[in-house]
Amino acid sequence: MNAVAHPFHPSAIAGALSIQGLSKQYPLKGKPVSVLENIDLDIRPGEFVSILGASGCGKSTLLRLVVGLDQDYQGQILLDGRPVRGPGLERGIVFQDHRLFPWMTLQQNIALALKNHAMAATLKDRLVAEHIELVGLSGFESAYPHQLSGGMAQRAAIARALVNKPKVLLLDEPLGALDALTRVRLQQELQRIWLQEGCTVIMVTHDIEEALYLGDRVIVMDAHPGSIREDLRVDLPHPRERDSALLHGYKQRLLAELIGR
Ligand SMILES: Nc1ncnc2c1ncn2[C@@H]1O[C@H](COP(=O)(O)OP(=O)(O)O)[C@@H](O)[C@H]1O
Ligand SMILES: [Mg+2]
Repeated sequence: MNAVAHPFHPSAIAGALSIQGLSKQYPLKGKPVSVLENIDLDIRPGEFVSILGASGCGKSTLLRLVVGLDQDYQGQILLDGRPVRGPGLERGIVFQDHRLFPWMTLQQNIALALKNHAMAATLKDRLVAEHIELVGLSGFESAYPHQLSGGMAQRAAIARALVNKPKVLLLDEPLGALDALTRVRLQQELQRIWLQEGCTVIMVTHDIEEALYLGDRVIVMDAHPGSIREDLRVDLPHPRERDSALLHGYKQRLLAELIGR
């Protein structure tokens, strides 16, 4: 199927994200506790950035702020030079759990993401079909979420996040609940989809190999308060081979860095 010229972003220009001096507190027993402290992060359009870090170091909080779900913070979050103020169609997110509506089919779940757009129903149908194909789920349009495997449901969640052609795709441990084999397959798929769509991606993961296989950069975060410890550039072209010796070298470096401290 040929890609449909998209009505919102005809040229599908990926977003540049600039996070400057970002700090965030949550109240704990009435007192503010620092969760993120002075995060500076510049991400180029179309870059794939992996974020690694222990549980509780603020990775999900960081993504929530970038999505615009929480505006109570200090510092700046700029998308293509403009401050992020609340959720917007140019930013899509996928969580560890698919969050599809159980009473809707795959097709209806994805179409729902387009509901606020005044565009012809036939165009919506084409965009939905195109994105179902993009994630390899053609033939399952009428399936309900309970009829999909975990991996298929995550593919559906990715299609739903991408159907609006976001400039930035945020992935919060999207493959974290999947078995090892499905996970490896979906990593490969994510690489293909990202290369095809050209969007900027920030992916949180616990898996060092996953972070290195996909990321142009791997950001390692420290906890209490959440801050950036390491910003490693993975200088290898895409698509990558999982068993490349160069990738293995990066893994050794990263492990030494993580365990060495
Ligand atoms: N809504 C909230 N209210 C209070 N504390 C929160 C809230 N959400 C997260 N936290 C706390 O903020 C810290 C970071 O959480 P989170 O961003 O979910 O970490 P991560 O995704 O890295 O595991 C944790 O200590 C967590 O308990
Ligand atoms: Mg989290």
